[in-house]
Amino acid sequence: MSFALLRSSVRRAALTAPRAASRATPRAPFRKFSTPPPAPKAKSNTGLIVGALAAVVLGGGGYYYLSSNGDAVKSGVQILKAKTNFTPSQEDYQKVYNKIAEMLDDADDYDDGSYGPVILRLAWHASGTYDVETKTGGSNYATMRFEPEALHGANAGLDVARGLMEKIKAQFPWISYGDLWTLGGVAAVQEMDGPIIPWRPGRIDGVATNATPDGRLPDATQGAAHLRAIFGRMGFNDQEIVALSGAHALGRCHSNRSGFEGPWTFSPTTLTNDYFKLLFTESWVWKKWSGPKQLEDKKTKSLMMLPTDYVVISDKSFKKFAKAYADDKDLFFKDFSAVVAKLFELGVPTQQFATPEPWQMKTLDEQKK
Ligand code: HEM
Repeated sequence: MSFALLRSSVRRAALTAPRAASRATPRAPFRKFSTPPPAPKAKSNTGLIVGALAAVVLGGGGYYYLSSNGDAVKSGVQILKAKTNFTPSQEDYQKVYNKIAEMLDDADDYDDGSYGPVILRLAWHASGTYDVETKTGGSNYATMRFEPEALHGANAGLDVARGLMEKIKAQFPWISYGDLWTLGGVAAVQEMDGPIIPWRPGRIDGVATNATPDGRLPDATQGAAHLRAIFGRMGFNDQEIVALSGAHALGRCHSNRSGFEGPWTFSPTTLTNDYFKLLFTESWVWKKWSGPKQLEDKKTKSLMMLPTDYVVISDKSFKKFAKAYADDKDLFFKDFSAVVAKLFELGVPTQQFATPEPWQMKTLDEQKK
């Protein structure tokens, strides 16, 4: 049976099966393959402030002001209130979360049956452009909506995720794109059985001049020095780089997007620490094919690792953290939650947030209890 057929038949069975009661248990059998599937066939601050002001002026706002240190301090939430006298509550954001969460699994014919991985990747690529030195980039302005950022090589395929998010935006036009995309990342992690990711709103919609230059996101063909340079620019240390890499328990590579092909784990729609476990337990060899250099597991040839994934166990400092996460899923979940919450807030001035303490959005399952 082909992988696609296997997925769709298990998926059909899953649709008739009762939903699992606990978040610790996967909700649908397709999320945990009991046997491995067959191998797949094989700028400056000034520019930003001017941009932010332009965004509000263009939007007919005029509610923006600059603080003494020059930061734009009105959030989307504050602007909204001034314009419409509507201040969204946590409950309103929970409604948005719920719509996203429901949409994630409405993906019978897509990849492994969930849009979760690609929605998480959108939130990460929207946030990971942050530069701690110039304080440019990050999730604040959702600049991937604009060319040329939308066309950057690293963002290939994310038009799928942006398109899905447009449907949610149409139902909640008051939410900013940065809040919507990061809330999507939160929903994706949580609904794929991951930990709670603390989150709060306040991002504002920027304009095309806020877009970041190409080259800020990692290049999968590179080594440890590149990872430290790229993630160091965002403000992350070795432990955080390794924890973030654990996201590759989810989803897959697509040769028509990145050039790479295949999933990292046998359960690409459930967050586990299997990415770390598999790095240590499997024998990884270079895949013989015409595509870019990637590794495959010697045993089943159905899993893959990017050169940058393998760095996580070949670099001495990274390896220490990877081993700890392979041995202890709870530790990985705790650190992953903290580092993803930090990632999604990159580039958002603290004063913009609607609340001093992040919220815990509820999963669909939690709301049924
Ligand atoms: C360490 C540096 C990283 C590199 C070099 C990297 C590279 C890649 C590449 C090449 C793909 C395949 C894209 C495709 O063909 O569709 C991918 C997918 C993915 N990445 Fe990463 N990534 C990195 C870090 C991260 C981080 C920090 C996260 C999230 C916190 C993340 C989440 C994902 C997810 C969920 C997918 C699957 C997307 C899908 O199934 O459509 N990655 N990554």
